[in-house]
Amino acid sequence: MDIMFDFTDRTVVVFGGTSGINYAIAEAFGRRGARVAVASRKQDNVDAALERLRRLGITAAGFMADVRDVAAVEAAFESVATSWGPIDVLVSGAAGNFLAEANQLSANGFKAVVDIDLLGTFHVMRQGFSRLASGASVINITAPQADIPMRYQAHVCAAKAGVDQLTRVLALEWGAHGIRVNAISPGPIEGTEGLARLSPAGDPAGSTVLKFAPLGRLGTKQDVAQLAMFLASSAAGYISGAVIPCDGGGAIDSVKPGIEEAGRAMARLSFR
Ligand code: COA
Ligand code: NAP
Repeated sequence: MDIMFDFTDRTVVVFGGTSGINYAIAEAFGRRGARVAVASRKQDNVDAALERLRRLGITAAGFMADVRDVAAVEAAFESVATSWGPIDVLVSGAAGNFLAEANQLSANGFKAVVDIDLLGTFHVMRQGFSRLASGASVINITAPQADIPMRYQAHVCAAKAGVDQLTRVLALEWGAHGIRVNAISPGPIEGTEGLARLSPAGDPAGSTVLKFAPLGRLGTKQDVAQLAMFLASSAAGYISGAVIPCDGGGAIDSVKPGIEEAGRAMARLSFR
């Protein structure tokens, strides 16, 4: 049986919440009664997200705020707090990614991703803290790259590893305030910018990744949104400092494809 979530009269803020996975999280909370604020860099994206949310009858606010700009992050929080009061659920999911060999990556290229993913998350946490309701749930969106070293993603691996540790440290420091801090690590999620950027050229839908998915399917934005709602709900009241994969088991599948094929052949032999 599905869990029935109810976030009526709760305030939810999603940084990087105007598209993809993060927008889906914002919409999911809104569909279950929450007031939702989304923030990102581009006014067009903010406007489009607001229109979608409001068309669904969701009470919504939008802010143009680059998470690298601490003053813009602060202004967004101030506006939410003034209009709606304390924040019950804070999601930090703004991120940037592109494939580049470490030797080809400029200092500014490395810095751009670390500044968005890691420093940006710190800004959201640091500026958000004083506006959180007692008992608030904070959710950072990380990635498998935090644990699994991946070629051509030195910048992302370093940044997301930092996001995981920031999550854990804040869970320790903020626990005394009754605030839980967790992270979600999505696997390959269909129909997203992230998947398109990491799939081989000519395969933006991720069929190459699909071949190796233990559950035989890619993730959906709803899969991630459901987990976010669970983490924000009272059902997760004793969960803090956790980095939870939402990846169909992908991150634990460490056997390389060639070895997997050899193993399958051996297994068939043993059944003769
Ligand atoms: N390969 C190598 N370097 C790259 C690159 C690529 N594909 N794309 C950008 N860079 C470098 C740029 O050359 C620049 O370095 P330089 O000044 O030494 O030339 C640096 O990264 C910053 O680029 P810029 O375009 O100014 O950054 P930005 O702040 O406008 O955009 C990005 C940030 C680069 C992360 C951009 O990809 C982005 O906006 N991403 C958001 C969407 C996204 O990635 N979604 C998926 C989330 S998983
Ligand atoms: P996406 O659609 O590109 O979402 C990124 C969002 O962040 C956009 O709304 C973007 O809007 C915003 N953003 C980017 N840079 C920003 C900045 N500097 N300041 C504020 N907002 C910024 O990508 P996605 O694939 O859904 O990814 C969402 C999250 O999931 C990311 O944290 C990503 O690392 C994580 N993830 C995704 C996958 C996947 O398969 N897609 C897998 C693992 C982890 P603007 O352009 O308007 O700023």
